[in-house]
Amino acid sequence: MAINKKIIVGNWKMNPVSLKEAEKIFSGIAKGFAVLKKTQVIICPPALFLEKLKKVSTKISLGSQDAFWEESGAFTGEISASMLDTLGVRYTIVGHSEQRHKYTDEEINRKVRGCLASGIIPILCVGETERDADHKYLNFVKQQVESALDKVSKNSLAKVIIAYEPIWAIGKTAVREATSAEFLEMSLLIKKVLNDKFGKSATDTVKILYGGSVNTKNALDFLENGKADGLLVGRESLNPAKFTEIIKTSENLNSLKGPNKK
Ligand code: PGA
Repeated sequence: MAINKKIIVGNWKMNPVSLKEAEKIFSGIAKGFAVLKKTQVIICPPALFLEKLKKVSTKISLGSQDAFWEESGAFTGEISASMLDTLGVRYTIVGHSEQRHKYTDEEINRKVRGCLASGIIPILCVGETERDADHKYLNFVKQQVESALDKVSKNSLAKVIIAYEPIWAIGKTAVREATSAEFLEMSLLIKKVLNDKFGKSATDTVKILYGGSVNTKNALDFLENGKADGLLVGRESLNPAKFTEIIKTSENLNSLKGPNKK
């Protein structure tokens, strides 16, 4: 994982239905941009498309949408981090809100540690269901981060990506997208939790992404004003034109602020 690059993740969820369509979307995205200097693109398609998509383009890294903690065994329907590793997949989403109901916090922690043990970078999703007037959601997210990273070493922390995805901002039924100020506040909270647990030097390199109704119109705001280290994009990552626009937004960030430019 490149330290100074923004990370744009596409979470395809259970889409599209056919491999043919998946290849079309994937190559459409790959064709939409040249070599990127400041952005890393990761697409997390349904797991059964991973092997084929690997051959379509090497410009895009691949990730899974989940991984089980045990290496192998009697766990019907599960995919292990070690299996992803043998396939050459380097990333996986862990603890997405659409998966969380199946697992306890302790199991999410086992998934994170299972990934790290297998050399897979977990993209750990955290986020509250709703924003209550008493601000209990702050403690909720704090606990999610703490429990997911329990028994993770300082060294391994550098290999974890965190995505703050408030559940109320995700998908077609979203109440609204978060604001960049709301994200900034939560990313500072997450950094403080990491700081208290691991110390400042270990925390500085951890990337914190925003996810939840990211689109071509709000991407810049989250990256620039929200200071997000990247974005986790659902629906718009299935649209090559829109997703490449988001990638280019990241790549062109600050390009007008260089020493020789006005
Ligand atoms: P959305 O999904 O961008 O469609 O809201 C984001 C996610 O669930 O990761």
